[in-house]
Amino acid sequence: MNVFVTGGAGYIGSVCVEQLLNIGHNVTVFDNLTEGHRSAVDPRAQFVQGDLQDRPVIAQALKTAQAEAVLHFAANALVGESMTNPGKYFRNNVSGGLNLLDSALEAGVRKFVFSSTCATYGVPERMPMTEDLAQKPVNPYGESKLMFERILSWYHQLHRLEFVAFRYFNAAGASGQFGEHHRIETHLIPNVLQVVQGKKSHCEIFGTDYPTPDGTCIRDYIHIIDLAQAHIQALDPGKVGFFNLGNGDGYSVKEVIQTCEKITGKAIPVIAKPRRPGDPPKLVAAAVKARAELGWNPQYPKLEDIVRTAWAWHQAHPEGYPD
Ligand code: UFG
Repeated sequence: MNVFVTGGAGYIGSVCVEQLLNIGHNVTVFDNLTEGHRSAVDPRAQFVQGDLQDRPVIAQALKTAQAEAVLHFAANALVGESMTNPGKYFRNNVSGGLNLLDSALEAGVRKFVFSSTCATYGVPERMPMTEDLAQKPVNPYGESKLMFERILSWYHQLHRLEFVAFRYFNAAGASGQFGEHHRIETHLIPNVLQVVQGKKSHCEIFGTDYPTPDGTCIRDYIHIIDLAQAHIQALDPGKVGFFNLGNGDGYSVKEVIQTCEKITGKAIPVIAKPRRPGDPPKLVAAAVKARAELGWNPQYPKLEDIVRTAWAWHQAHPEGYPD
């Protein structure tokens, strides 16, 4: 298929592009490079530097690509920033997404795959989390993703657009070639590995008084290649709906740090800090629907394997991407 990937220079997008190319799809990456890196774009893909606020540029790029499917990764995704600059999140994630969606319809695209998030649930009312839980986001980031989910539902009903929206849990790990390099790093695993690399003196633990067995937050970590595989399966005709993407296993912040110590063989100094605003204590996916309906079968469910691949990438790219 001719697949048009927004945000294909970003962390999750770059690995998905690589996996799509590996199985023979044609890929065009559309990215404004504010978050992404040019060198994270697989050289086998076409690249268009463009912004989702610019409809004529999107339309031209879709036409040139002869796009049959769109995978929409491009977004702002920092919970904390969304609390101080909500307009940025609604503008880029909702209005930018709508520009893309309308352009895709005009270009005759029949399949639209969207990167949503477990942050659309807010503080979940049940654990593990199934897709039918109430969605009550507690930050503008989650709200912006939920708004776009609703738009997709209506476009499916009214324009018969086939869509799949994936609610990611905690994406982590790396492929051999592509990994996690955010210019501002807020995520746990890369931050811990930066301590091992000597770039930071210690790791901060945000909150040690949560109602969890060791007092730190619990998350469901999922390997980036498994995430990519789900997107590939979503391209099959007839697949539609909302799917959680997680492994169904929860690990605490302390357990993640211990796993990093085990994999790297280095002791990691930690400092306990106050809770980070907007962090729910525990987020773990039920992770059943995607397996049953998409035939998704994660290959790297173990946290050790996830950390091992992340560590290999950080060792091979100590400064991340050059651009
Ligand atoms: N944490 C630390 N120290 C750090 C970094 C993180 O203790 O240096 C903690 C966080 O407080 C949290 C856990 O580690 O409890 C995981 O934090 P991440 O930032 O790695 O991931 P989040 O769970 O906050 O965020 C992820 C995605 C978001 C998504 C969110 C849904 O990155 O895009 O899950 O809740 F919105």
